[in-house]
Amino acid sequence: MKKYFAPFLSIIIILFSCQQNKNTTTTQESELSKSDSLFYTAEGIKFAKQMYAQIFTHLNKALDETGPYESVKYCNEKALPLTDSLSKHFGITVKRTSLKLRNPSNAPNSLEKQILEMYEKTMSKKPSIIKTNEGIKFFTPIFIAPVCLNCHGIPIQHIPDVTMRALKELYPKDQATGYELYNIRGVWSMTFPNNYASKRNHKNQNDERK
Ligand code: HEC
Repeated sequence: MKKYFAPFLSIIIILFSCQQNKNTTTTQESELSKSDSLFYTAEGIKFAKQMYAQIFTHLNKALDETGPYESVKYCNEKALPLTDSLSKHFGITVKRTSLKLRNPSNAPNSLEKQILEMYEKTMSKKPSIIKTNEGIKFFTPIFIAPVCLNCHGIPIQHIPDVTMRALKELYPKDQATGYELYNIRGVWSMTFPNNYASKRNHKNQNDERK
């Protein structure tokens, strides 16, 4: 099965990179209709934006109020309420992953690795969507913004000593430093269950009745 999947995936990836000027994503057309593709892309972008905003606010607040050492300790997006509610209500799994890891438990699986390599190569900002047996996979790249340099930039130049000490202590195998502004840091990887669209409609109808 794997043997056949790899060349197939590269076809999807080539298609992604050819879509530079269109504002939509590429899908395995035969299985995911255009409207499903647009629907899942919109949902994925919406959640990624909300999570990014949560992390951003959380980080800025932590850096201001508690300083870099404590912020490093608290910087774990898994504790964010939105991620919890997505998985609890809709069965969506959410993960941040990268080719240069800080926390080894965020390691990419083989599909994520290929997606990450594609983004590194193309520098595309567009999300990707793929239908698999496990559900609908959504990926969108994460770029380095100025605030990120505090903990993922170049040691000393960007990352203060006190932060480096905390990082060494908590993540002895840290690879996630040395980034520069607008580099690709990683991707959001989400998996929507195959029945997500109907579950969501059902929930919307219930909410309207309330
Ligand atoms: C205060 C320090 C700090 C700042 C600022 C920070 N990060 Fe991180 N980042 C961390 C820590 C600590 C982890 C490991 C979290 C964990 O244990 O899951 C991490 C993990 C990640 C991961 C998951 C992959 C991995 O390597 O484990 C991504 C992606 C990421 N950060 C992107 C960003 C981006 C983008 C920004 C800017 C918006 C940012 N980070 C700002 C400390 C920081």
